Amino acid sequence: MPLSIDELVAHVERLIAEQVELATILETAVHELHQTSPRFDWTGIYELFPDNVLRLGPFVGAPTDHVFIGVGKGVCGTAVAERRNINVPDVREVENYLACDANTRSELVVLIRAGETIFAQIDIDSHRIAAFDEQTVRDVERVAAVLADAYAREA
Ligand code: SME
Repeated sequence: MPLSIDELVAHVERLIAEQVELATILETAVHELHQTSPRFDWTGIYELFPDNVLRLGPFVGAPTDHVFIGVGKGVCGTAVAERRNINVPDVREVENYLACDANTRSELVVLIRAGETIFAQIDIDSHRIAAFDEQTVRDVERVAAVLADAYAREA
């Protein structure tokens, strides 16, 4: 049974309280989040490194060539450069989109941040056009917020 978003957030809060290491928390969150919707065909985390490069962390779905993405490149790098979440209803209409899977139609990037500090991002791809409605975006934002707490603890 997939966890609800409430359960997933509570689970991550518990892992933080138990001082579980960050890598394990990220891995768990990605696997659980992926299962919360049949629309999620690829779910992963890119972590932002000090050299302004995003590096692929844990993910569920097909392996991707895009293990490193520069800030400003693709949808993922643009989200960091513009310091905002990006919901793309149809990736075929985005000029600088970096394709991972030819079947992907929509993509959601939600930053994992505390104020001005961006730690990482959640990236989700769907084979469906406009897969990410407002409720889904809010749900993913809640998961990103609790993961930001996990990063902030390390800082
Ligand atoms: N599509 C992303 C690249 C990452 S893959 O979707 C996993 C982008 O344009 O940045």
